[in-house]
Amino acid sequence: MRKRIIAGNWKMNKTPKQAIELVNLIKDGANSNDVDVVFCVPYVNLATVINELKGTNICVGAQNMHFEESGAFTGEISASMLKEMGVKYVVLGHSERRAYFGETDETVNLKTKVALQNGLTPIVCIGEVLPEREDGIAEEVVKIQVKKALKGISSEDAKNIVLAYEPVWAIGTGKTATSEQAQEICKVVRDTVKELYGESVSEVVRVQYGGSMNASNAKELLSMKDIDGGLIGGASLKAEFNDIVNA
Ligand code: PGA
Repeated sequence: MRKRIIAGNWKMNKTPKQAIELVNLIKDGANSNDVDVVFCVPYVNLATVINELKGTNICVGAQNMHFEESGAFTGEISASMLKEMGVKYVVLGHSERRAYFGETDETVNLKTKVALQNGLTPIVCIGEVLPEREDGIAEEVVKIQVKKALKGISSEDAKNIVLAYEPVWAIGTGKTATSEQAQEICKVVRDTVKELYGESVSEVVRVQYGGSMNASNAKELLSMKDIDGGLIGGASLKAEFNDIVNA
């Protein structure tokens, strides 16, 4: 039985003061023993939010990191820096980073390895863009992304990765994939893990759906066989997030 994981991706929202307000609005309702709950917040809010969440089961995640340990990489943050702060998760390869910041399957793979080496749980994002879906190649695209992200990673390590299927056309658009569409590709993700590592790994790896998940569609999406959780953008900035955790 895979434990559900609901992660809020705050993206570039909330100043430290606003972060405290939001955490205090949602932390009691989002605190759970049954579900892993993660707040993925901007770097500058990590320390504040970790502090505000003391005494709860909610974990904190970053939204990116560099694959090098240290060095002349102005503006970047390393895995060990995150680890030492008490960060537990890191979102890697989000479609916005792929589209606007030159993230590639290769850098996602490097970052995934380094995150695992540092004991961080990577939430690796994959998903097709609209023209790929329209051309009927969504499955192939996602399969290749999963294979490239996991290249060279041992089966022991692979068990600790969370894979987030986020169709790019559904992110921030209010246009959710139907639960059947989401299930279909989340199954492709799991089958790809099975092809790479066998069933014992594919049955424990958690697969999230992301893309306009909200209080009204969460229950149905989360009832699908291969959907173990959600990566939530817009709705993670409101009390509505708690309804998703409860769903
Ligand atoms: P959204 O974002 O819920 O606002 O569509 C999801 C994401 O980008 O992770």
